[in-house]
Amino acid sequence: MKLYELLAIIILIAPTNGASFLKKRDQEKKVRYDNYSVFRIKYETSLQRQSLLELTNIKQSFKLWRDDNSECNLMVAPSAMPLFEERLRTVNVTAEMFIENVQDLIDHENEADTRADATFGWTRYYNLAEIDAWLDTMLAAYPDVTSGFVLGQSYEGRDIRGLLISYKWGNPGVFIESNIHAREWITSATATWLINELLTSKDELVRELAESHDWYIVPVLNVDVFVYTHETDRLWRKTRQPSRISDCVGVDPNRNYDSHWMENGGASSNPCDETYAGPQPFSEPEIKAMSDFVSILKDKINVMLAFHSYSQLLLSPYGHTAEEFPENYADLMQVAKAYSDAVHQLPYGTIYKYGSSAGILYPASGATNDWAYNEQDIKISYTIEFRDTGNFGFVLPAAFIKPNAEETLIGIMALLAESKKLGYMEPKYTRN
Ligand SMILES: *[C@@H]1O[C@H](CO)[C@@H](O)[C@H](O)[C@H]1NC(C)=O
Ligand SMILES: *[C@@H]1O[C@H](CO)[C@@H](O)[C@H](O)[C@H]1NC(C)=O
Ligand SMILES: [Zn+2]
Repeated sequence: MKLYELLAIIILIAPTNGASFLKKRDQEKKVRYDNYSVFRIKYETSLQRQSLLELTNIKQSFKLWRDDNSECNLMVAPSAMPLFEERLRTVNVTAEMFIENVQDLIDHENEADTRADATFGWTRYYNLAEIDAWLDTMLAAYPDVTSGFVLGQSYEGRDIRGLLISYKWGNPGVFIESNIHAREWITSATATWLINELLTSKDELVRELAESHDWYIVPVLNVDVFVYTHETDRLWRKTRQPSRISDCVGVDPNRNYDSHWMENGGASSNPCDETYAGPQPFSEPEIKAMSDFVSILKDKINVMLAFHSYSQLLLSPYGHTAEEFPENYADLMQVAKAYSDAVHQLPYGTIYKYGSSAGILYPASGATNDWAYNEQDIKISYTIEFRDTGNFGFVLPAAFIKPNAEETLIGIMALLAESKKLGYMEPKYTRN
């Protein structure tokens, strides 16, 4: 596809007005997690799960990091340890601590010598301004094959930026959504590494991959909160838009898409919950912007990948129900297996499991992968949960950025090859 065509579309749907109208945020004190610990708790019954997850209603003391149908990872404030231990006894489960002091981990997240990495080198995590500046550098360095786009504006008025890489007309399209959950920093680190690889690699296979697809990559979708996780609270999950009905702030953006919204307990209607779906679908400007943009381009997009962490999973539709499966579920599993096998063959030997979101985890409605599949006719659609499975969780040390990114590249290469084999990579826009 020609770059000017995309630019015309972008100008049509997302006029930027140059002027910055960022709302002023009060200088908030940086949230600290001194002596907060994270535990792995395996349970056998849904009653046990329910009883443990109840603890997360005590916001200041407990935060859920991960939850699937056999175990959860729970962060516990030091002052809440007695309550936590009592609950473990009542529920009759044991907990294994894997992070003793979350603040200590946060303080050492960028262990690599950060001064030596003044330019992008993926040895540390970059903030939004650094990522934006780097995108500009890449746009300037590769003007013939890249174009910048803006999905729209965030709640606080920031541009949500993306990059299109297109080497030739007629390519099938791959859309990568990253950092919808802002605390999952490994996602934008991986997305930017991928952009760099697609533009600069001399490897024959990577060149083939880069040049035979159109890549729409949004490294940071949840821009406001990405800034917030850098400046104020490293572990904030939701958006930062206040609620009209509660003092609790924010919506889970990955429950906010208009596709089986709020069905089957796949999200919460309580603004204080981490999976609050919002007052209505698309209440969050970031998700509305993503929806408007993808809706217009959907005939050019064959594959939707939404980057998340952590758990090492590929999750296909459906999220809203574990009772039904998409009509091409067997294909989706075959493609996911290709990703998983390819990653496993790397020297790191990392294991990715796969299945449908609701099947492998629990009902989760209104997520990107379901919406793209159900509403946008993008039949190859996954959530990818990156490293790890519960050693560092969200605070994955920067030393793991490159290994994780290499796995993602190899995985995507296999995923697209398998999709092509199954007939999903025909350019959609040659249809009338
Ligand atoms: C964390 O725990 C250590 C060891 O118990 C203690 O010395 C320290 O004061 C605690 N830090 C904070 C900020 O509470
Ligand atoms: C607690 O769980 C263990 C197995 O995990 C079981 O053997 C034991 O009977 C349980 N105790 C109670 C009081 O349910
Ligand atoms: Zn996530």
